[in-house]
Amino acid sequence: MRITISQIKAMKQKGEKIAMLTAYDYTTAKIVDEAGVPLILVGDSLGMVVLGYESTIPVTIEDMLHHTKAVVRGTKQTMVVGDMPFMTYHLSVEQALRNATRFIQEAGAQAIKLEGGVTVADKVKRLVDCGIPVMGHIGLTPQSIHQFGGFKVQGKTPEAATKLLEDAVALEQAGAFSIVLETVPSQLAKIITERVGIPTIGIGAGIHCDGQVQVINDILGSFTDFAPKHAKQYANIADIMSSAIKEYYQEVTAGSFPTDEQSFFIDESALAGLNK
Ligand code: KIV
Repeated sequence: MRITISQIKAMKQKGEKIAMLTAYDYTTAKIVDEAGVPLILVGDSLGMVVLGYESTIPVTIEDMLHHTKAVVRGTKQTMVVGDMPFMTYHLSVEQALRNATRFIQEAGAQAIKLEGGVTVADKVKRLVDCGIPVMGHIGLTPQSIHQFGGFKVQGKTPEAATKLLEDAVALEQAGAFSIVLETVPSQLAKIITERVGIPTIGIGAGIHCDGQVQVINDILGSFTDFAPKHAKQYANIADIMSSAIKEYYQEVTAGSFPTDEQSFFIDESALAGLNK
């Protein structure tokens, strides 16, 4: 039985911290699921850490559905949240509904995430009314990177902080079951977390959020283009992969791989006719 949105919301009430990680493929999702992490986000960070784009903007809905399906196949208990990519929910409530439906119906996700607060509240309300659980996302929303002029901390002025609080309240009123707060000052995240009844999931938003989300490649150290300040590296998978690959390369070129252990044999008599 998969984790439900009621269980996620109850965790806030009970003061239990919520862990969420991104995943983009079957193998990784299976490991995250078996580790007991309750939420997986198939984030559009896919664009940067898997597809090699400079931002999340080129990611298409087909990219997202393809990877969301793989993650769903790899999981049994975790709730899978599909991330709606750039401009797949802004044009109209109908567009948002049509594309969100694809995540739930075609890809098998249990919820979707979209970026924005007050400006997307009408879409959030309609999706929730139609039975699609929605996770909001405010603060440094990467799909607006050109508007922000770079990856900058959000909510630093009184006006910007007030707007973020209004966005969080609008998402809660529209029926979102949780809100990602990305790259906002810790003190502001604390105020927002205390002000809304739904869980806040922080990334670069300090310790006071109800939960935390990280891009899995950042915590495993497999993405080496840059290391965000908010990420703690729990392993150095890039180094482990690199030394394993070099060893394999060296053994193949030296003729020491494969050995009999990785080979298959038949009785020589079966080849007798061929050796003439
Ligand atoms: O796409 C993503 O991985 C995200 C998280 C950083 C919250 O939106």
